[in-house]
Amino acid sequence: MRKKIIAGNWKMNLTFAEASAITKGLVSATNSSSYEVMIFPSALHLETVSSLAKGSKLIVGAQNAYQSGLTAMTGEISPTQLAELGITTVLVGHSERRQFLGETSEFDNQKILYFLKAGFRVVYCVGETWAEREKGNTFSVLEDQIKKGLKDITSDLFSKLVIAYEPVWAIGTGKVATPVEAEEAHAFIRKEIGNLFVGAGAIAENIQILYGGSVKPDNIKELLAKPNIDGGLVGGASQKLDSFLGLLK
Ligand code: 13P
Repeated sequence: MRKKIIAGNWKMNLTFAEASAITKGLVSATNSSSYEVMIFPSALHLETVSSLAKGSKLIVGAQNAYQSGLTAMTGEISPTQLAELGITTVLVGHSERRQFLGETSEFDNQKILYFLKAGFRVVYCVGETWAEREKGNTFSVLEDQIKKGLKDITSDLFSKLVIAYEPVWAIGTGKVATPVEAEEAHAFIRKEIGNLFVGAGAIAENIQILYGGSVKPDNIKELLAKPNIDGGLVGGASQKLDSFLGLLK
């Protein structure tokens, strides 16, 4: 039985005061929720937010990190530094980083391997653009992102891996994938993971696959009702306490 996850990606939004206020409001709601609840605040807010969440079930993760211990890598954050704050969850391959910062699935693969081996939980994001969907390439794009991103990941590492299917055309657009479209992509991703190596079928069955892209309190229920959708990775609607609580309801 896969546990459902509601994750909030705050991206480069929220002031320090706003992030702190939402975190405080989420702590008690999370403790009484049957979902796993995660938030991914700005790196600058991680220290405060994680100390506010301390002792609760709220999981605080980083939106990005670099695949190395302490070293010369200007502008980046090391998992070693995150672990010092008790942060052991990281987002990899978000489409905003792929589109605007040139991240590739090969690069993400280095990150995923490093973080998983360091004991981190990784949420790996995949998804097609509108142009790719229109050309009928949705499945080939997903297959490529899964095969390249998850290359050389051994079976023992998969228990710490979560996948997020985020169709790029649905992110921040209000244009949500229908539950049928999302379910179709999720089932495909699960099948692809099952095909990665001999014996991966059981891994595929257990892996949590989240949907992201214009998830709101009023559409989350029908998405989560689909058998292969194990939760949501939510941008906009996670950035206000009311609507985050609405998602949990
Ligand atoms: P929105 O929920 O704002 O569409 O963002 C989705 C997303 O990118 C989460 O990572």
